[in-house]
Amino acid sequence: MSDACKLAAGNWKMNGLRADLDEARALAKAFPKLDCGVLLCPPATLISAMAEALEGSAIMVGAQDCHPGEKGAHTGDVSAQMLADAGARQVILGHSERRGDHGESSALVAEKARAAHVAGLVTIICIGETEAERDAGHTLDVVLAQLAGSLAEGATSANTVVAYEPIWAIGTGRTPSLEEIAQVHDALRASLPDPAISLLYGGSVKPGNAAEIFAIENVDGALVGGASLKAKDFGPIVAALEAS
Ligand code: PGA
Repeated sequence: MSDACKLAAGNWKMNGLRADLDEARALAKAFPKLDCGVLLCPPATLISAMAEALEGSAIMVGAQDCHPGEKGAHTGDVSAQMLADAGARQVILGHSERRGDHGESSALVAEKARAAHVAGLVTIICIGETEAERDAGHTLDVVLAQLAGSLAEGATSANTVVAYEPIWAIGTGRTPSLEEIAQVHDALRASLPDPAISLLYGGSVKPGNAAEIFAIENVDGALVGGASLKAKDFGPIVAALEAS
């Protein structure tokens, strides 16, 4: 752990209906007071209802993407201001599933981040290498280039969080070794425009491996997919971060 703020962020991806808000309520009940930040990012359809369900609790609500524009003729898109209006305080940007499924470049991610900051949202900027890039020994080159290209101008610890998510570790149950995570996070810390920006690790974080990952010096928390959907899985990850 560094001196940066600790954050456990749950990314529900394209999962969740109104009935699943009970999981968010259960999490809030289990952690009435928190020292670290805890965030749930449901699909856009649930942001407003989740913000209502969690009102007055220690758990924050965030979004998974935004459009770089303020408003206008962009059918199906959602602006950062709309997300903030619905109750989101943070937004995940540049997740590898967005970069892959929608061809998002680092330059577009930086544009979205700028829009999110104007709307008052904290951005969680995701970066990470493919398995082929790691095997070829290019991990640091790839993630440092993504970092430099994806951050908005004026990124500080007040408006930006960075999540390192090796693509091959997402949803696979596989993770880099603790030494490999430490190596990437050390390099990222040294390259941040503000060293107090929180650095999250993401990719198959579970109750069973969270504590050892949080013990790594430059890991300030986690971005969690599958294990954030149920309070019984995300709760122990939050507890591990609180104890770290
Ligand atoms: P996972 O996803 O925890 O299911 O591996 C992480 C992510 O994509 O943020």
